[in-house]
Amino acid sequence: PKTIFSGIQPTGVPHLGNYLGALRQWVTLQSEAAKDTTLVYSLVDLHAITVQQDPKQLQQWKKESLAMLLAIGLDPNKSTIFHQSDIPAHAELMWILSCQASTGYLGRMTQWKDKTANEKDSSKKLKLGLLSYPVLQAADVLVHRATHVPVGHDQAQHLEFARELANGFNHTFGGDVLIPPETLISPARRVMSLKDPMAKMSKSHPNPNSRILLTDSEETIRRKIKAAVTDSMDGITYDPEGRPGVSNLIDILYHSDAHPAYSSQDELAKDLADLSMRELKDRVADTVETSIKHIRASYAHFLHDNDHLDSVAAQGAEKAAKSAAITMKAVKSAVGLS
Ligand code: TYM
Repeated sequence: PKTIFSGIQPTGVPHLGNYLGALRQWVTLQSEAAKDTTLVYSLVDLHAITVQQDPKQLQQWKKESLAMLLAIGLDPNKSTIFHQSDIPAHAELMWILSCQASTGYLGRMTQWKDKTANEKDSSKKLKLGLLSYPVLQAADVLVHRATHVPVGHDQAQHLEFARELANGFNHTFGGDVLIPPETLISPARRVMSLKDPMAKMSKSHPNPNSRILLTDSEETIRRKIKAAVTDSMDGITYDPEGRPGVSNLIDILYHSDAHPAYSSQDELAKDLADLSMRELKDRVADTVETSIKHIRASYAHFLHDNDHLDSVAAQGAEKAAKSAAITMKAVKSAVGLS
């Protein structure tokens, strides 16, 4: 039996990188799931507060993010969908794991180094929660005994850390209390920013034109893709190092197409070779629009059904609490807490 677990921060409308890199896989895994596969997907609000959030805004984002998980096609009868903070076991296991986690290892994590690079001169601003963020993420997957975790490339290091924590815990306390999970990196592992193709597409980038949101209108999608940074070389070729902007558009086209007729981006690029940049962009915009328009429509529907959203969250929390309780019992007994 498999258990799939993954999470997304409820910090705004998910973008095309979130979708192609993670969310779409969640839905595929749901539709391909065997009878003995358990699917658990969390809106990780405790992770969201590692940076300052406006409380009203966060509340609204949690609701929108839940509506979005339904809109992409997650079915609460097939998948457990819940808000992380509804299940105290996540934070509780995090504390127990914190007592095993090396601060040296945490300090070397890419995300910590990136986020702290700009704040070198003011260690007062660097919060403990940001350093221990990967320990909470480890608790998320371990508390539900996940065997597989579908994510984009940027989460691979965090999951490597989770495996090491699990193995270390088992080694220290004996037995196989925690299950080291496998990382499932999606084929669209790293969708890049439309404005800076050397950086990943991200929710927090100040320029909204750097990302396509799953709620963007067709017009907005076209406008943003038209304005994407490319280059002035003739013809279309796939060369992520030399032509990052064009190659990102080819990647987006390749991964957005629901019925890919090509076995690789190189093969696709050969068929695009004679297009102008404008024609390439039109084609990318058409394909993106086709692949996400159903989400936009469905999102608008779910967002206004408050009763349904509340009942999905309650149903998810009930299932998640049961799942987490099994692990907490074993962990507490292994450590000598009960
Ligand atoms: P988050 O909320 O930043 O992103 C959610 C998912 O989207 C993927 N992703 C991308 N994939 C490809 N290209 C991009 N530009 C891109 N941007 C984001 C991420 O890899 C992720 O899969 N720490 C996690 C949330 C988390 C989690 C977990 C994930 C908390 N606990 C346990 C898995 C298991 C995060 O901040 O993801």
